[in-house]
Amino acid sequence: MRDINIAIIGHGFMGHEHETMLLKTPGFRLIGFADIDPKQLEDVTEGLKRYSSNEELMADPEVDVVLIAANNIYHHDLVCQAARAGKDVICEKPIAMSLEEIDDMIRVTQEYGVKFTIHHQRRFDPDFRTMKNVYDSGTLGDVYSIKSSLYGHNGNMHDWHVYIDQGGGMLLDWGVHLIDQILWMMKGHKVVSVYADIRNVINVEVDDYFKILMKFDNNVLAEIELGTYFLADKEHWFERHWMMSGNKGSAYEDGFWPEGKIVRKTELLKNVGGSRTMTAAGPTRSFGPPPEGTLVTEELPVAGTTHDMYFENYRKAYWGEEEFLVQIPECRRVFALMDAVRESGRTGRAIAFEE
Ligand SMILES: NC(=O)c1ccc[n+]([C@@H]2O[C@H](COP(=O)([O-])OP(=O)(O)OC[C@H]3O[C@@H](n4cnc5c(N)ncnc54)[C@H](O)[C@@H]3O)[C@@H](O)[C@H]2O)c1
Repeated sequence: MRDINIAIIGHGFMGHEHETMLLKTPGFRLIGFADIDPKQLEDVTEGLKRYSSNEELMADPEVDVVLIAANNIYHHDLVCQAARAGKDVICEKPIAMSLEEIDDMIRVTQEYGVKFTIHHQRRFDPDFRTMKNVYDSGTLGDVYSIKSSLYGHNGNMHDWHVYIDQGGGMLLDWGVHLIDQILWMMKGHKVVSVYADIRNVINVEVDDYFKILMKFDNNVLAEIELGTYFLADKEHWFERHWMMSGNKGSAYEDGFWPEGKIVRKTELLKNVGGSRTMTAAGPTRSFGPPPEGTLVTEELPVAGTTHDMYFENYRKAYWGEEEFLVQIPECRRVFALMDAVRESGRTGRAIAFEE
């Protein structure tokens, strides 16, 4: 197979990430960049094209695929423009700003017969994939609870992410990743209801905290919690945690490069006699130490996944060897769910979703 010729719109944070990745990923040839701000093109890698406009990039016959790494509010227009120019398109998350925009993008990309997918590379995060391995293996029995959390300790939010008319806010930034991970893990199951609390803790315009509860039709209750204003003077400026519990054990995981264990009791449902234990929190029975030898641990089925696997899948799917991992209806579903999340945040009530 020949290399896929790819050009990128937007040479900001993510444009630079893609530049580094695609220059070393087999099967791709990075052709060049366009950016609305010419200054952003000054440090484009020597030998790559610096287009004077998005239109010039889209008209370049050398380009097979346009990768859109511009701000969220331009995704709809740029995807449709690239499709009309006959280019296949990868767009950064979030796919768009609304369901209406997404439906229009689906219509236009289908009309022009171009390939279209979204860069949800966090499906290859090793912490997430390790937890997905745990879930898929069934080793925890009937899973009843999954918690996925991300806390920022430095109180940072940056650039256009703090402006609502620029598509800012943490729901659109990280929320789409965290929801996408849970929905993909629970593939085949409906979300019966959604409850959410969304807050602007210190930001005037945009959300910087949310907690989302999703009840699935297999009885799993999944919780996502994210906050950028969880201040702490810790060694790491963020914390990533997972906790999954079933009736045959629990799995916990900390960090993007996960550390954790599967934990089980050797004797399920044994009445331990209610002995009184004195702890730092005072006397307790249920929350004291387990009886000697009744708690056992196992290693997590660690997934060695990395983000370049997104482009490995893209290359194979491009040449028809497999399906694109990220399908547009899945991204649309994340957005439909985010509408329910926002409605719940507004009303303070649980919202019926896919009954
Ligand atoms: N998948 C991920 O993990 C991930 C991580 C970060 C950002 N992103 C996404 O990447 C996109 C860009 O985010 P960023 O953090 O790189 O922002 P950024 O502000 O650092 O970069 C955006 C760049 O796009 C340019 N630009 C804006 N509008 C344009 C237009 N209409 N035409 C051409 N160029 C335009 C800007 O001048 C800037 O150079 C966003 O959609 C964001 O959600 C994804």
